[in-house]
Amino acid sequence: MNDELVPKDLRAKYSDKEILDIEKKHLAPAVAHYYERPLLFVGGEGATLVDHTGKEYIDLFAGICTTITGYSHPKFVATLKYQAEQLVYTSSLYATVPYAVLVKKLAEIAPKGLTLSFIVNSGSEANEAALFMARKFTKNPYVIACHHAYHGRTTLTRELSTAGWRTIPEGHPPGVRFVPNGYCYRCQFGKEYPECDIECARYMREVIRTETNRAIAAFIVEPIQGVGGIVKHPPEYLKIAHETVKESGGLFISDEVQTGFGRTGRKWWGIHQSDVEPDVITMAKGFGGGIPIGGFITRPEYAANYTVTDSFATFGGNPLSCAAAVAVIEIIQESGYLEKAYKAGEHLKSRLRSMMDDHKIIGEVRGQGMMIGVELVRDRTTKEPATKEMAKVMELCKVDGLLIGKGGFDGNVIRIQPPLELTTDQIERACDILDKALTEAEKML
Ligand SMILES: Cc1ncc(COP(=O)(O)O)c(C=O)c1O
Repeated sequence: MNDELVPKDLRAKYSDKEILDIEKKHLAPAVAHYYERPLLFVGGEGATLVDHTGKEYIDLFAGICTTITGYSHPKFVATLKYQAEQLVYTSSLYATVPYAVLVKKLAEIAPKGLTLSFIVNSGSEANEAALFMARKFTKNPYVIACHHAYHGRTTLTRELSTAGWRTIPEGHPPGVRFVPNGYCYRCQFGKEYPECDIECARYMREVIRTETNRAIAAFIVEPIQGVGGIVKHPPEYLKIAHETVKESGGLFISDEVQTGFGRTGRKWWGIHQSDVEPDVITMAKGFGGGIPIGGFITRPEYAANYTVTDSFATFGGNPLSCAAAVAVIEIIQESGYLEKAYKAGEHLKSRLRSMMDDHKIIGEVRGQGMMIGVELVRDRTTKEPATKEMAKVMELCKVDGLLIGKGGFDGNVIRIQPPLELTTDQIERACDILDKALTEAEKML
């Protein structure tokens, strides 16, 4: 490759101050960075990111749960180079090889019966499209989501997201209803699992009976809630919810934007950690390994009436994004990531749980595979969220070369959703750094 052809400004060396100054002047404040002094990254390999000074960081957050195959994976990079040289873009008004190969591969790894895909650019768009299809299919306006869910930032998906922010007093799109999530650590009914009889899941019947026309278009759910703080519903929750959705004539939409593509271990999809068969799976983030792509896959009978007048995306199904997604699927298959995510996740969880003896700030460690949450509390009895302490932990980890994510309604949950490339050695080093940061943060209690 001839680097000389690349715009000079892109190849120049900048300090973090120079870049942050440009951003301050020219970026809308909707773009906010982590950390008191934000990081400037220039490269990466595997699960390691490199900043502009050459310092390395173990990345436990994969951007935001996105670079599932890590940074600079040779097959991923080769695929992008190949496709860029062939054809970066033409629209879905024309057929291309990458779009066709991708949807064929998706049908091979999707739950049985889900064979028709529609590809867009992001998770928000994927959910918006799937919900539109469900409303059209059922001829019903009602859509149900869980408390503390996050489904995106378009008008409808923003309305369906109660993971923490309600900003402007906007007009609320009609037909949206909510049910409790399966958040056992902070049960809304003050009950204990399993004596609770999974009241959170059973509550949906009451919502449908009293707040809808006794039928719904869809229930949309993250099998494990990501932004909401890695909330793993109790085992029966999704099954009970599925039964209720089917009784009410709706479609069960599994939002796999975070849980998809093997992240939860051993299975391709988070929903398959239960024995529910979804009607629709929506996907994004890890789907493109860092290249923008989203989409849904569903049964032919639901998609049959979802036609060209209902949706179109200029970049949806573009050759470069589809080629990236094909590479991601093959890398996951060839590298045995499904098993690796399970085993590494179990190891990580047991290491984190063993820290609970020394760190009373840890209220709970939960999750599955490479999707783990550590909820920090100021007091294990009152469960007061340790929000300030969480911010301190993040800063301290950063100094020692570790990146973690933040989630939960009160911003007090450490989110661990790394590239599946993470090595055992990196897990050990990450836990040592976290251990030290928790010791410091506990001094604030
Ligand atoms: C579960 C879930 N669904 C949908 C979205 C929206 O995806 P995007 O930001 O690509 O629009 C997100 C983003 O965080 C998500 O976590």
